[in-house]
Amino acid sequence: MLKRVAASFCLRKAIIINPVHQCANRTMGQDKDDLKKKRKSRSKEKSVELVVANEEKQMQQQQEKGEIANEENQKPKQQQQANQNPKKKKKKQESFPFGNYKNYYGYRISNDMDEDPRLKVLKKEWFLGKDCLDIGCNSGVMTIHIASKFGCRSILGVDIDSSRVGDAQWHLRNFVRKQNHANQAKTGSGETKDLFQIVSFQKENFVHTRNLDENRYDTILCLSVTKWIHLNWGDDGLITLFSKIWRLLNPGGIFVMEPQPWKSYEKNRRVSETTAMHHRTIVLRPEHFQEILLDKIGFRTVEDLTSSLSGVSKGFDRQILAFQK
Ligand SMILES: C[S@@+](CC[C@H](N)C(=O)[O-])C[C@H]1O[C@@H](n2cnc3c(N)ncnc32)[C@H](O)[C@@H]1O
Repeated sequence: MLKRVAASFCLRKAIIINPVHQCANRTMGQDKDDLKKKRKSRSKEKSVELVVANEEKQMQQQQEKGEIANEENQKPKQQQQANQNPKKKKKKQESFPFGNYKNYYGYRISNDMDEDPRLKVLKKEWFLGKDCLDIGCNSGVMTIHIASKFGCRSILGVDIDSSRVGDAQWHLRNFVRKQNHANQAKTGSGETKDLFQIVSFQKENFVHTRNLDENRYDTILCLSVTKWIHLNWGDDGLITLFSKIWRLLNPGGIFVMEPQPWKSYEKNRRVSETTAMHHRTIVLRPEHFQEILLDKIGFRTVEDLTSSLSGVSKGFDRQILAFQK
């Protein structure tokens, strides 16, 4: 069909473009013949134009209905896409505006480490038989290891990102399965104390949704989370975080905090318009957090655990502080 239309289109062009030749030495008969031919040719020209016009009209209608392919439709799909978007389509970059990175522990814990070095500075007595809360637990690796190493009575990990909570639940199942296999090999009995009864994960934006009338905790962890709350909810969000933690702790309870330094805010300030805006307006810098927690929030004491922290991977050599209520 397309070929036929193209051919008749060429014919029409040829007819319009070629002039009828005229010659000086001609007889009357020849002139009459020429006139007849001219008339015939004109009527042929008209009928061809009519056919072409009709066919073009028909084709346009069919293209509109999508019954036949137009030139663009006949190109391979990739080429069509390239034409629509002349710049080659870039792979969509994932962004993590809350520090909700996938595979966070892949960056944090290098292959030569047997465990997260932060576990070495945490004290058993803060966890053994205690009810604990881990704010911003990401994929739950640290939460699970704390429960397993120190024997918490309960530990709840909360994270703003439901995908990370899903990862955490998967890690928990995987951890328990591996532990059961190891035990079976050692003792012949596959069942260990059930970590499923101790560790749980929940999606929650801690700044907005925690119901303060509910549970109280003996120990609350907030490791590498303050920057993300600060950048996303500003100074108000940070003060909300600190005061909620204080109210959720039992008297004598421990708050373990690993704040990111101000220089690391710079690197992430552009993850969203909100973070960029808060970065410009933040007044309370991480170097003031200790003073705020002691003087304004009401914690009694602080212990700096950083000095005993060794072997941390580059970029994660951060201060760890433990406050007592
Ligand atoms: C950099 S990761 C730290 C993970 C973990 N605490 C650690 O240090 O191993 C920060 C986590 O905090 C979570 N987060 C940020 N803002 C939060 C909020 N308002 N409520 C709960 N979780 C939050 C992010 O989704 C992310 O998983």
